[in-house]
Amino acid sequence: MIKIAPSILTSDFSRLYEEVKQVEDAGADLLHLDIMDGHFVPNITMGPVVLRSLKKRVKLPFDVHLMIQEPWNFIKAFSDVSDILTVHVEACNNIPGILKKIKTLNIKAGLALNPNTDVSSVTDYLKDIDMVTIMTVNPGFGGQKFMTSVLPKIKKIRNIISKGELNVDVEVDGGITSKNVGQVVKNGANVIVTGAAIFNKKTTVKDALKIIRNSAK
Ligand code: DX5
Ligand code: ZN
Repeated sequence: MIKIAPSILTSDFSRLYEEVKQVEDAGADLLHLDIMDGHFVPNITMGPVVLRSLKKRVKLPFDVHLMIQEPWNFIKAFSDVSDILTVHVEACNNIPGILKKIKTLNIKAGLALNPNTDVSSVTDYLKDIDMVTIMTVNPGFGGQKFMTSVLPKIKKIRNIISKGELNVDVEVDGGITSKNVGQVVKNGANVIVTGAAIFNKKTTVKDALKIIRNSAK
């Protein structure tokens, strides 16, 4: 079953709750929240305080994507506002330790890889995580162009997971539209992050989500 996780990065932050409510009412499976610190990526977004307000009113599971340096220092702060907490392998110097910390806080753990990071950086940890996120843009901004060069990497990680009979979701994040989501799924993704394709002026959130879901089949 393909799960759709709209990213709010390109939504209208002056009406954030209304935008999220549209996503929830449109039948999204997860809400993807991009946390950026201006160091790991050249952009700054939001912290736990924003997620805490949203969490009071939103039923969707929160798929929190930490694009921050030293994520170790913020695991606790995000623990009560995350259903799954994903850190970047490029930002961690103690992956086993950070995964243990996330799991002891009773939240699901994810590892994310930038486009140029090889799958070998996560293979040792697949048995300890719930999701691996394959970036198909260089992180930092919404509305970027999908990097087709990353497709073989999605296939590779899916094959490793299937061969190991592991129960790990493969999330793909960045530049996904109705035009390329079919290929992304065919290569093995089962969680689709999509932002600009959902929050765009041409269609309603509801229609955009339906188009993505139908194109993912
Ligand atoms: C980029 C973020 C992505 C992005 C996805 O750094 O991690 O989640 O918001 O948005 P689109 O689908 O517009 O690329
Ligand atoms: Zn993201």
